[in-house]
Amino acid sequence: MPPSRRELLAGAVATAAVTAAAPLAAAAPLAAAAAPASLQGIAARRGLRFGTAVPWQAGGRDGVPVADPAYARLIAAQCGLIVAENEMKWQHLRPTPTTFAFAHFDAIMAWAEREHLAVRGHNLLWHQPKWFPRWLNDYDFGAQPHAAAEALLTTHIRTVLDRYGRRIASYDVVNEAVRPEDGKLYDTSLSKALGGPEATLDLAFHTARSAAPQAQLVYNDYMSWEPGNAAHRDGVLRLLEGFRRRGVPVDALGVQSHLVTQGIDTGAAVARLEGDWRRFLDAVTAMGYGLLITELDVRDNHLPAAIPSRDRAVADFTRAYLDITLSYPKLRDVLCWGLSDAHSWIEGFEPRPDGVKRRPTPYDVALHPKPMRAAIAAALAAAPMR
Ligand code: XIL
Repeated sequence: MPPSRRELLAGAVATAAVTAAAPLAAAAPLAAAAAPASLQGIAARRGLRFGTAVPWQAGGRDGVPVADPAYARLIAAQCGLIVAENEMKWQHLRPTPTTFAFAHFDAIMAWAEREHLAVRGHNLLWHQPKWFPRWLNDYDFGAQPHAAAEALLTTHIRTVLDRYGRRIASYDVVNEAVRPEDGKLYDTSLSKALGGPEATLDLAFHTARSAAPQAQLVYNDYMSWEPGNAAHRDGVLRLLEGFRRRGVPVDALGVQSHLVTQGIDTGAAVARLEGDWRRFLDAVTAMGYGLLITELDVRDNHLPAAIPSRDRAVADFTRAYLDITLSYPKLRDVLCWGLSDAHSWIEGFEPRPDGVKRRPTPYDVALHPKPMRAAIAAALAAAPMR
């Protein structure tokens, strides 16, 4: 006798229950094994960490500092550490000489801690007039300018370090103090009052060391491996030598790594760049400095607009750069300056001359992984063990 409709239905429900329940239990380990590893997961296996810059944006909900919750989830899933893109800078933290505005940085910090992400501090002194708040460029240091400038700078650094203490283990104490065109140091209102740029940078590092003795103190700059960077690299080397000679407490060089592609033929480009880059990193590490990649992204210059070939060249250039730079075991952290093309400063900073949108980061505007993401993953996986 054929089964009744009722029996058929019951059977179907039972089968559905089995297929729903059994595969769930059995599939869990399978799914875990098949799930693509996060960039932080891959990095951690080599003793490295992976992270990104995070902005504070209006519109974030439930304590999430960015407006798009999917972007926040991507960062939390892929990263082991983050850095605030702007919110620790004087321009944001110091609306006036006598006030601090911590709310946005605090929001990023609280979210990071909730997501178990380490936080880097960026930065305590971006030593260029262009990046000072206007009030600081125009500041009247009065009859005793040295004492007034010293008080202003040390109060700033101590206030930030006292507030975040051990919650932040690594700081870019000084950012971009070297002029790329001639390797000399910028002068600012502070350095004019303090008797010169060296004295100013030294004071920043000494103050940071005494306020946060356990923290890694970093000099961060964008000297890179492309042509046109020789004077900048030499200037940074001179600065780092000076720090050592004067006994200034600087632990590591932050290599920003805002890369610029040199054309479609990555092999030929890398062959031209590798020697200078290794000589630079050799000199830095020979002085005993650690290394970090602090702001990785890529300006897709000299590349056709077509996305597949452009993305391929960006990925290959990134891979070659990371392979060389990660071959230095003192390098422990790799941070991108934004994980998605929807959240990159590059489009605003230097749009492509042909008007086509830049693709500077590992994920596209829809948060889909690009070849650059695979290149970073492969380079992290291939890095020598720390
Ligand atoms: C950039 C931010 O991404 C922008 O949003 C801001 O307008 C300017 O600063 N080097 C650094 C970073 O050290 O702080 C800069 O960040 C990018 C270059």
